[in-house]
Amino acid sequence: MTVVIDPAFDPVPSLERSTRVSVSHRPPEGPGATAVFVASEGELPGGASRIGREALAAAGFTGAANQTLLLPGAPLRVLVGTGEKGIETDAQLRDAVAAFARAAREAGSLAVDLTDLLASGDWDAGIAVQAAIEGAVLARYRYDALKGDPSTVALDELMLQIAEEHAEAAEFGVERGLVLARTAALARDLANTPPRHLSAVKFAEVIERLAPEFGLEAKVFDRQALIELGAGGLLGVNAGSVEEPRMIKVSYRPADPDGHLALIGKGIMYDSGGISLKPSNAMHAAMKFDMMGAAAVFSSMTALRELGVATAVTGWLMCTDNMPSGSATKLGDVLTIRGGKTVEVKNTDAEGRLVMADGLVLATEDDSVADRRPDAIVDIATLTGAAMMALGTRTAAMLANNDAVAAQLEAAAEATDENIWRFPLDHRYRDQLKSSTADLSNIGGQYAGVILAALFLGEFVDGTPWGHLDIAGTMQAESDDLWRSAGSTGFGARLLAEFAAAFEKPRVEEADTEAGETAEDSEPC
Ligand code: BES
Ligand code: MN
Ligand code: ZN
Repeated sequence: MTVVIDPAFDPVPSLERSTRVSVSHRPPEGPGATAVFVASEGELPGGASRIGREALAAAGFTGAANQTLLLPGAPLRVLVGTGEKGIETDAQLRDAVAAFARAAREAGSLAVDLTDLLASGDWDAGIAVQAAIEGAVLARYRYDALKGDPSTVALDELMLQIAEEHAEAAEFGVERGLVLARTAALARDLANTPPRHLSAVKFAEVIERLAPEFGLEAKVFDRQALIELGAGGLLGVNAGSVEEPRMIKVSYRPADPDGHLALIGKGIMYDSGGISLKPSNAMHAAMKFDMMGAAAVFSSMTALRELGVATAVTGWLMCTDNMPSGSATKLGDVLTIRGGKTVEVKNTDAEGRLVMADGLVLATEDDSVADRRPDAIVDIATLTGAAMMALGTRTAAMLANNDAVAAQLEAAAEATDENIWRFPLDHRYRDQLKSSTADLSNIGGQYAGVILAALFLGEFVDGTPWGHLDIAGTMQAESDDLWRSAGSTGFGARLLAEFAAAFEKPRVEEADTEAGETAEDSEPC
């Protein structure tokens, strides 16, 4: 290839940046900007009382949630609206601090006084501090790796003020906030990187380099190794590409692990649709983000050691691009997935489920922890446009064959404010995945696309407690929005880290009972 890419190009610049966080009961010295939280009702706080509601309203500031108004001076004071009731949840605090950090974009150091907030209601100071850090750091995230002249001011320091009694609880929150913000920023970096700058081969190299820094082991499977494994889904999707595929297995093994969790990520480095070529529109142009699932899995794993996670976690990143060419998989071709099930490819743009199928089977076979298969499998994939049609860009679809896994995913999503909504794994639609020439077809009918894709994946989990996240709608933000930044959102990275950190083994009996399925009708077709 005759394309010039700077050999010194760094696909993960966020890891080179850091924000210092200080926590003190004393007012901070010399911040560039200070937040003043203002509810839309009730008494004005000290920083705004002299101005009065009327003058604020005349300037367009009513105190509505996340509204901001700059009051010039040194330090710059930024009024941040907190709505009628003020800040009541950690999600609202994350949002409010993000609004502040964006409004004070020229300030390299920010101060937030959490004393009054923590004195009201029953806050866990650690969780509040964590949310504040995530809000500030992620709001100031930027992707300028390929810009000659970065146009934004870095956030060097965040000064938090809290009462002395909360100091100890806050300490853990500082560490968690910094780790989780870095985790999401890493996922954003990886997904924002253009497809040629981050091919499957390069992604594997980046992971091999980073894994040891975070207490992880990485094993990379090249084309030959995938042939030996019989990973026909990943190889079939890769067939049209001049770039080799890579499967990257990432392992986190704490001493004396308490359970084993497998995470599978869709790593389509670029999804052109293949022979079923996508039209050249904005949706197609977003397909460098089609590896967000794999980016989320790896990024989440970089947090595990620092969060002190006791569960062993194995990540399976299924990476290739999906290209049309003379060697590409054709409509009507039949692929043999790891383990022997055959799939007729009726649409090469339904490629995610093909690469994920190999990963799911390999995960179910993995008895490297306690000689048993994993206690649960969670997969994450930018799988269907239907997920975006159904839930938009703020909520991801979740499906599961196990209520305990579903509930733990919902709890993690609640903690990170990465919304998910459970869809039914309705086995009555499974007939649509029948094929006349193979065990399965890779597409069903026109409707219920989210469910059909999940039912397809469910054929490969062999009854293991399993949850599936379809993040097609949430992978990208069109514009900066509080702690989400335009481009890749990093959705799922914090969620999976929180999920792993709180993971409890589900009871195996619960698996596959969701749609009243019996062993008999779980045979494919
Ligand atoms: N990567 C896409 C899904 C996608 C669409 C992600 C929009 C983000 C935004 C996936 O590989 C795909 O093309 N899915 C097809 C499946 C269909 C052919 C059954 C789709 O959703 O159209
Ligand atoms: Mn596709
Ligand atoms: Zn895709």
